[in-house]
Amino acid sequence: MEKKSLDWANIGFHYIPTEWRYVANYKDGAWDEGGLSPDPTVAISECAGVLQYAQTCFEGLKAYTTEDGRIVTFRPDLNAERMTDTCRRLEMPVFPAERFLNALDRVVRANAAFVPPYGSGATLYVRPYMFGSDAVIGVAPSKEYQFRLFCTPVGPYFRGGVRPLTIRVSDFDRAAPNGTGHIKAGLNYAMSLHAIVNAHEEGFDENMYLDPKTRTKVEETGGANFLFVTKDGRVVTPKSSSILPSITRRSLIHVAKEYLGLTVEEREVLVTELEDMAECGLCGTAAVICPVGKIVDHGREICLPSGMSEMGPVTKKLYETLTGIQMGRLEAPEGWIRVIE
Ligand code: PLP
Ligand code: COI
Repeated sequence: MEKKSLDWANIGFHYIPTEWRYVANYKDGAWDEGGLSPDPTVAISECAGVLQYAQTCFEGLKAYTTEDGRIVTFRPDLNAERMTDTCRRLEMPVFPAERFLNALDRVVRANAAFVPPYGSGATLYVRPYMFGSDAVIGVAPSKEYQFRLFCTPVGPYFRGGVRPLTIRVSDFDRAAPNGTGHIKAGLNYAMSLHAIVNAHEEGFDENMYLDPKTRTKVEETGGANFLFVTKDGRVVTPKSSSILPSITRRSLIHVAKEYLGLTVEEREVLVTELEDMAECGLCGTAAVICPVGKIVDHGREICLPSGMSEMGPVTKKLYETLTGIQMGRLEAPEGWIRVIE
């Protein structure tokens, strides 16, 4: 199979339409058979639940070409599981996990020419999503839904590739206690848009959101969880019921403990502790692990000892081990890699 002639090394994190996507419709209490479609557009009622009341959710995962030329995905069962949790919280119907995985296999296989070659620096980002598609005018769940899954080749999430970021402690909140921060609801991202535009205007790459109730604890960014490394080499990651349970972060915790023999603490992280950290990284499917060089808390500048020119040593080891597993250079734990072809 011949690959598309894209400038793989220089694509950013942008949408490039591919040839096939999967579409299934939910009506009268059941999902239809679904199938692949060449049509990248969606036609729905002007009064659709997604358009009026933002009843939409999504997932994000990647397909990789391994060193030995296979196409694989990374822990997609956990994306299916998280989408189930999201749908339950948003009063949306669950798209069964085995159908989710089958749709993923079919779309990636059908778009194999768009899966970036091994070593190119790019990967295939896969976006499953679901939305309320029929008309609702009173505030109520939709009765009809569409599940879609498309893919697009991507490069690094942050402009300039993997480089240490400068982030700020945000005055905007991301997720309320008992709200929707722990699920992947579109609304969490809609409300973060003003905060990220404002952060960029002020010269920051991202926001560090705090817990809205006490504004003393680190939560996450708009699209990634935090991982810190203390000056004595422990890996620390915030524990909160209002952050997204990142699959990358959960995988990195395993990698840190089982592959690198590090001590890992999942616990509340106070903003006042940031000065004690040696390294900080943002982790997620899109971000992989992006190092943070500086955190600005209302004029108080916390410069991580890892500096502004490269990843700290522990972050680098975590990055190399995780991407080694994803690209087939290192043996993966049982069940982490789903081979597509
Ligand atoms: N936190 C938020 C708010 C996200 O949008 C994402 C991206 O999916 C993550 C964390 C990272 O999660 P994952 O590692 O499962 O991609
Ligand atoms: C991902 O990492 O998959 C996400 O969904 C983050 C998104 C903000 C691009």
